[in-house]
Amino acid sequence: MVINENVTRKIIPIAGGKGGVGKTLIAANLAMELARNGKDTIVIDLDLGGSNLHTCLGMKNTGMGIGNFLSSREVMFQDLIQSTPYKNLRFIAGDVLVSGLANIQFSQKKRLLGNILKLKADYILLDLGSGSNFNAIDFFLISNSGFLVTTAQTTSVLNAYGFLKNLAFRFLIRAFNKHEEISKYLRKVIKERKPGSFVTITEVVKKLRAIDLENGKKAEKYMSILKPKLIINMAESPDDLLVIEKLRDLIQSSLVLDVECMGLIYSDDAVTKSLSNHQPFTVREGESIAAKDIERIALKIVQSGRFPDMPLDLNYYKDTFELTQIEAKNDYEEITSLSKSEDEINIGDLLSIISTQKKQINELKGTLRMLTMNRP
Ligand SMILES: Nc1ncnc2c1ncn2[C@@H]1O[C@H](COP(=O)(O)OP(=O)(O)OP(=O)(O)O)[C@@H](O)[C@H]1O
Ligand SMILES: [Mg+2]
Repeated sequence: MVINENVTRKIIPIAGGKGGVGKTLIAANLAMELARNGKDTIVIDLDLGGSNLHTCLGMKNTGMGIGNFLSSREVMFQDLIQSTPYKNLRFIAGDVLVSGLANIQFSQKKRLLGNILKLKADYILLDLGSGSNFNAIDFFLISNSGFLVTTAQTTSVLNAYGFLKNLAFRFLIRAFNKHEEISKYLRKVIKERKPGSFVTITEVVKKLRAIDLENGKKAEKYMSILKPKLIINMAESPDDLLVIEKLRDLIQSSLVLDVECMGLIYSDDAVTKSLSNHQPFTVREGESIAAKDIERIALKIVQSGRFPDMPLDLNYYKDTFELTQIEAKNDYEEITSLSKSEDEINIGDLLSIISTQKKQINELKGTLRMLTMNRP
């Protein structure tokens, strides 16, 4: 089990319970920003079965990738590392050339993880596939502090919760794999999970304490090691954080997990524009809000001498969520003042803005309802 091995080189897995939330774009552009800050960075496409990181970096998929490595013992992991057009940034491709690896075996996964841990770089970013399957979770657990991307939309938020719940169970199972009685109990809980039934980690820990007080305490200690960090992507307004804060509360009360917030990235046309021009948006649209949001997250990483601990002045901010709230509000003011000065808003535009906002408020209400319903 990995109990923070990220001391000299920091491995940052980037996951998201739901597909299409922006994991790959964030992995590529965050890697770009870390490299731009002078950090030796490697970004790895671990979305096996759906590799497309190269397109976000503006690269052609011609070199060998993870697919070649997993399907041949002759291919050395080191040989997969490709240079990119960007200083300090290297890249390992996924399985576009050799595909069909969406369900890799445990031994292959172990071999892969072992090689990633041996890489030498300041930062190693992993772009993971969507969903809460064992692959995504095991790669995520290479660090105790991976990034989980979500939007404020209901399905994405619920999937983020589902991801962390599976993660918590898997983590406990690994931690207690030598303890027969506890392993048996955990496996039974997982097996008996039915749609609608809701066994929380809080209840599991309580039960473990009842089986054996010392191990119950140990379970709580293990859980406190995990510090996943949320990134909210494609945000429309600072209010999107309200849902995410509800999510945090639910995670704390049901999963005994402390999550932190790395930051919020606004939905921005510059992202789509840069994609059609095959360049990272932090390069092509450096002045855009989304690029600034990514840059801010990169700075939080770089400025933290003890990352994954966050550089936070607790005299000013209560926690990482409050800091993100302030950043999001400042950005929003910039976005709205820009749009006012760029073109005069006519009555038609105004009506369409109001109707979009109404839709968002309804969506927000729906998500808050779902989260409250899920509360045990
Ligand atoms: N901040 C943003 N602003 C605008 N559009 C965005 C933003 N982030 C992501 N997108 C859009 O979402 C799409 C999906 O992004 P991306 O491929 O990074 O998601 P993903 O989570 O990696 O998806 P998958 O689950 O398929 O791997 C992009 O093609 C882009 O159009
Ligand atoms: Mg992706």
